[in-house]
Formats: sequence, structure tokens, C-alpha cells
Amino acid sequence: MKVLGIETSCDETGIAIYDSEQGLLADALYSQVEIHQQYGGVVPELASRDHIRKTLPLIREVMNKANCSKDEIDGLAYTAGPGLSGALLVGASIGRALGMTWNIPTIGVHHMEGHLLAPLLEDKGPTFPFVALLVSGGHTQLVEVERIGSYRLIGESLDDAAGEAFDKVAKMLGLPYPGGPHIAQLAATGEAGRFTFPRPMTNRPGLDFSFSGLKTFTLNTVLDLLGGDTDTTTIDQQSKADIAHAFQEAVVDTMRIKCQRAFQYTGMRTLVIAGGVSANKRLRDVLAIMAKKEGVEIYYPRFQYCTDNGAMIAYAGCQRLLAGQYDDLTIRAKPRWPLDQLRAL
Ligand code: KG4
Ligand code: ZN
Repeated sequence: MKVLGIETSCDETGIAIYDSEQGLLADALYSQVEIHQQYGGVVPELASRDHIRKTLPLIREVMNKANCSKDEIDGLAYTAGPGLSGALLVGASIGRALGMTWNIPTIGVHHMEGHLLAPLLEDKGPTFPFVALLVSGGHTQLVEVERIGSYRLIGESLDDAAGEAFDKVAKMLGLPYPGGPHIAQLAATGEAGRFTFPRPMTNRPGLDFSFSGLKTFTLNTVLDLLGGDTDTTTIDQQSKADIAHAFQEAVVDTMRIKCQRAFQYTGMRTLVIAGGVSANKRLRDVLAIMAKKEGVEIYYPRFQYCTDNGAMIAYAGCQRLLAGQYDDLTIRAKPRWPLDQLRAL
């Protein structure tokens, strides 16, 4: 079964064709980062308008790349949520309309399910059941995964998502949006030990996260150094790097502690990490050491499928369509959509 996947939930237009027999046939991604960078974050209306411009040309491009005519597409999957409502509506309207005119089964996919299943696009992917740590710009969740669609939320962020915290601290330090990769790059030149930041919610039991206090701690550290000046972006370059280092260490170490707890809590031995922050190299290095020590296995998507992409949506949609699930003619766009409300396969 060949499935066309459409992702437009935020600031990336992602299109792909996944074939259940041959794997991924082609994909393309258009990032709007340059449009939003001057505003320091995603402007929802600009995002929707750009998805309108890019979605159909990208679909054509991917079909050409895959050497696939419309008659060869057996199913269609689009991101139905969660995400920005205007941005979702673009992919949902185009996806639903194409599905109807091509007369093929069409399904609205949960964006975080897409992230969660992205490591299964690899030849040596994880086997069920596993624990998943989903770390993106909008979500930080620990999920017990029995099989596709059977998701039990065992921990989540009570305030900012991990990626959001990276982005806000980056903005504070005058780094471009999205901040995660810039913090990571800067942290590499930071001096270890000059600052030690707290590991939020690790001194009490539980699997929930909180990153907003860490963000305030970072702000106060910068303000202390400036001694009166309130423009946090003017801090000297070495201090910026040292703070980025301390911040990243705190986030990564917090995640390591929570993942270790999730292993104890669920008794599982396999961990999947996905979402934009899973591209973080320091996170991967620290968790690799933990995995060796604990004798557990960790799976990630390949780097380009950590952040938003069409391949993960085509894959997740394909699994559901293969199982006989599909939607009626409603255009589905759900900005809020809890992961544990999905139908199990
Ligand atoms: O999954 P994603 O592309 O979009 C959402 O679904 O939100 O995640 C984007 C987030 C951004 O907050 C970005 O700063 C973060 O992932 N990110 C990173 C890295 N690469 C992307 N955070 C830390 N280190 C990275 N290398
Ligand atoms: Zn995402």
C-alpha cells in the first residue's frame, strides 16, 4: 500500500510517500524558519499562508521523485492535530479533498503518534512494547506503548515543553529561532562547572517534568551577571556559552533521571526517543551511557526525522489504513488532541 503523507501542523511543510512493501519512496520538507525568525517565534497566520503556497507544489515534487502517478496512491494521511489550527486546516483540507477526488481511504493522523513511530521507519527499529520519551516544541511526554495506538501517558510537563524551554532560553541569550540547535552548538564551547542549574522535579517521586522554573533560574543567573542591565542578550560570549552548557546539562540530566525511573516503573527494557529535542547530541550521549549501565536499548529516528516531517505521518497513516481504519469526509483539525484518546490497532 502506497500512502501519501502531509504534515502542516506548525512551521514545516512535510510531504512523503511511504510504501508498506518498499518503505519510504520519497519525501520533501520545506521549513518556514526564515519567515518566522525575524519575529523570534512562529507567527500562526504567516505559517498557514505559507503552507497554502507550499503544500501542492511539494506534493507534485514528491510524486515526481517517487515516480508515482495519482492512480498508484492507495491511501492518504494528513496531520489532524495537535498543532496550530490554521496550519492544520491547510493540510487537512488539501488532504481530505485529494482523498475524495482520488477516491482513496484517508485518515487524520496524530502528530505525536507520527513522532513516536518515526524510529520504525528504520531497518532496525524497536519492537513493541516500549517506553517513549516524546520531546518536541509543544510536548514533553513519557508514554507506555503497548502497540500502535495503545498509549498510556505516564509523565508529562506541567508547564513548558523541553523544546519550548530551549527556544525561550535561546531568545534570552539573543540566539535565533528555533533555539534548540543553537543552544546545543553554543553549549559545546561552554565551560563545565562554572554554573550548576537545578534538575527540576527530580528530588521527589514521579515521572512528570517542569521546565519553567529552570527558565527563570537561567534568567536570574544572567541578570545577576549583568548587575543592573536588563538586556539579557548583551551578556558576554563566554558567559552565554557557559550558561547554555549548564542549561543543557540540567535538561539532559533531568531526562536521564526520568527515563531511568520510567524503566523501573514499567519494567520495560526498550526506550524510544523522538521529537525535535531527540536530535540533541548531548542527550543521545548521556542516554547511551545510561543504557549501557542499565542494559537497556534506546532507539531514535534518524536526524532528519526527529523534527517535523511528512515521512512519519505517511508511515503512521499507512499502519492505520492497513488495519482498515479510515475517516469519513469530515475535514479534521484538532489543535488539542490527547494522545491517549487514539484507537488501538
Ligand atoms: O518536533 P519538532 O520539530 O516540532 C514540534 O512538534 O514541536 O520540535 C521542534 C523543537 C524546537 O523547540 C527546537 O528548538 C527543538 O525541537 N530542537 C532541539 C534540537 N533540534 C531541535 N532542541 C535541542 N537540541 C537540538 N539539537
Ligand atoms: Zn513535531
